[in-house]
Amino acid sequence: MNDLDTIISSAQSAFAAASTPAELENAKAQFLGKSGQLTELMKGMAALSVEEKKTRGAAINVAKQAVESALTARRQALADAELDKQLKAEALDVSLPGRQRGQGGLHPIALAWDRIEQIFGSMGFDVADGPEIENDWFNFTALNNPPNHPARSMQDTFYVDMNDEEGQPYCLRTHTSPMQIRFATAHAKKYANRLQAPAEGGRSSFPEIRVIAPGRTYRVDSDATHSPMFHQFEGLWLGENVSFKDLKVTFLNFCKTFFEDDGLVMRFRPSYFPFTEPSAEIDIQFSKGPLAGRWLEVAGSGQVHPTVVRNMGLDPEKIIGFAFGSGIDRLAMLRYGVNDLRLFFEGDVRFLSQFR
Ligand code: DAH
Repeated sequence: MNDLDTIISSAQSAFAAASTPAELENAKAQFLGKSGQLTELMKGMAALSVEEKKTRGAAINVAKQAVESALTARRQALADAELDKQLKAEALDVSLPGRQRGQGGLHPIALAWDRIEQIFGSMGFDVADGPEIENDWFNFTALNNPPNHPARSMQDTFYVDMNDEEGQPYCLRTHTSPMQIRFATAHAKKYANRLQAPAEGGRSSFPEIRVIAPGRTYRVDSDATHSPMFHQFEGLWLGENVSFKDLKVTFLNFCKTFFEDDGLVMRFRPSYFPFTEPSAEIDIQFSKGPLAGRWLEVAGSGQVHPTVVRNMGLDPEKIIGFAFGSGIDRLAMLRYGVNDLRLFFEGDVRFLSQFR
């Protein structure tokens, strides 16, 4: 082995022994650095003749290339090993199940509420919204239920220790019925000119009121079927020629659609409400399912009392119609087979997730 072969093989083993890029660069300096072995050999050539320089120089160059290619190969090998290590450390197991986000859904009351709006909407009813903190006039007096009227005791509520500008005490509304007055009064104002001037040819000039008003209501009541906060929806249909027959068709169709039961039957049971005369409870009977054959009370209703029509700013000699009020929670309980109302308001996801 000549001196050049020795240098090449010791460079190869020095490079192989280097286990990091820094060690490799140190090893390189021993051979190719300023005072590295090959560099020193080049310097030594100064003393040689021109002929000797040619052959010796060519041989040193060949050795230098061999050392450089060993260096490049080792650099690449170290870089590959480093990348390999990194890939292993950061490896993802794509076969692992992902961490899922909890899936939300609508609350059963919201589902029932949406369904009610949608069904009445399809029958041409507007949807109105009103305040939950109501004054005494709208909640009671305008509905023909003046102070000291015995019917007030049926709806004990929470009073707010404050009066409005007209000295009316505020309370949490006990039902959605005040929306009858609010909506009809606004309607009467809007169409005042048409109310005064009858249309030609005796045709109806009054744009009918057809509205439902769903929302929260409050009473001092709490057990398996009563909650101090609950939900109702009010219905009102007023015109010049609206009758109990319209109420029956409307409400029966609503119930059949809401409960998806075409064989469902309905009955009116005489009752009393200050704001309607005559008044009726509405009972329904399912034709199928676990409750089939039982009469279930689902709403109060009646022909709107003339005093109430007058309090709306309308003429009871001309305008007639009906109203109804029903519990959204009660309808949701019947539709989804829930027997304790409190489940709706406890926020237990084990219960709620069943409605997704
Ligand atoms: N507001 C009544 C209640 O909460 C329900 C009711 C009965 C509403 C008869 C009406 C109606 O509109 O005509 O008990």
